[in-house]
Amino acid sequence: MTKSVRNNPDFITFGAPFIGQEEINEVIATLKSGWIGTGPRTALFEKMVGDYTGAKFSRALNSCTAALHLSLLACGIKPGDEVITSPLTFVSTANVILHCNAKPVFVDVRRDTMNINPDLIEEKITSKTKAIIPVHLAGRPCEMDKIIKIANNHRLHIIEDAAHAIGAKYKGEKIGTIGELTCFSFYATKNITTSEGGMVTTDNKTYANKIGIYSLHGLSRDAWKRYSTSGYNITRPPIQGTNTT
Ligand SMILES: Cc1ncc(COP(=O)(O)O)c(C=O)c1O
Repeated sequence: MTKSVRNNPDFITFGAPFIGQEEINEVIATLKSGWIGTGPRTALFEKMVGDYTGAKFSRALNSCTAALHLSLLACGIKPGDEVITSPLTFVSTANVILHCNAKPVFVDVRRDTMNINPDLIEEKITSKTKAIIPVHLAGRPCEMDKIIKIANNHRLHIIEDAAHAIGAKYKGEKIGTIGELTCFSFYATKNITTSEGGMVTTDNKTYANKIGIYSLHGLSRDAWKRYSTSGYNITRPPIQGTNTT
């Protein structure tokens, strides 16, 4: 029989999420509710992340990759544009730039923080540069003051890759409201997990609306909003701490 690697000291553990009875109860309640897609629990999670980070708008997505990609589209990144980011990250950060047919431009990291070196950014800016994606590697925030100053001087968008950084603070401010858009991951190995999942937080309503619509393939109302009250009638148990109607 294959030995489980989960608690085997010969292997490095790949993700060790803390899953307690409360989480198990929520999953069972979701399955019993008959509504397993995006719905009121997703809305509650968005509200919780919004309340926690202080961001005005939160959009839950199926991954941080989707969050980064849709954020770039919301900012109007087009084929041929250049987007500056860090080479020391998960490949998803650069891939989303390619998904927009734009060009990733790498700026090296600082040895001490392993985050993008703001002092090297300006020499990589051209007339095609449209955005910067700083990556808060391992939850250590980038030097956002310097990055924001450069972005303002050159009229660039800032989309933070905060895949590792829910709960992190920069100069006392929670990651989630500093740049125009902040993207979190809730993948199995992350600080908190939904198995797979991501979220964008922003104070910009236009971006939030665009990302919501892009995530629904152009629809402005998800299935819960279209079908729950009139077309979908099975009895649903109440969700802890929220009003399901
Ligand atoms: C720095 C970084 N950015 C983006 C991602 C993509 O996150 P997701 O798996 O939720 O798409 C990851 C995932 O490992 C990551 O480590």
